[in-house]
Amino acid sequence: MTTQEPELDALFAAAKNAQAKAYAPYSRFKVGAALLADDDTIYPGCNVENAAYPVGACAEAGAISAMVAGGGRAIRAILVLGDGEALVTPCGACRQRIREFATPETPILIAGPAGIRARFSLAELLPASFGPANLPA
Ligand code: THU
Repeated sequence: MTTQEPELDALFAAAKNAQAKAYAPYSRFKVGAALLADDDTIYPGCNVENAAYPVGACAEAGAISAMVAGGGRAIRAILVLGDGEALVTPCGACRQRIREFATPETPILIAGPAGIRARFSLAELLPASFGPANLPA
């Protein structure tokens, strides 16, 4: 990973700030995410639930939308932050969302309120994945 320590601190701070703003009245499980994009910008996201439960959106999806709207096109690192004992690893759908803008080596950092707890590569979380190159030009 080419990301330096200060960037990890900034990613953690952005995700924690986003987590506090999450809209999760149904699950009461607030998640924050932050990604470092190829434009050197950190884009945050939080989960946004809905009374029609399946319509809710994950924190990672929000961060990716913010990146694309802001002009970023590649994820250099992404951090996901949530509470509880278990690691808050991205759901299957979000692994695929990340994959669209990442490489197999892209770091996915998993944090709790106190700091980073684990680190995976995208390939570890989504092996043998389907991506843009699978489609005809
Ligand atoms: N959630 C995320 O936002 N990201 C994850 O990586 C795991 C789950 C959200 C979805 C839902 O709003 C709540 O957490 C409980 O599943």
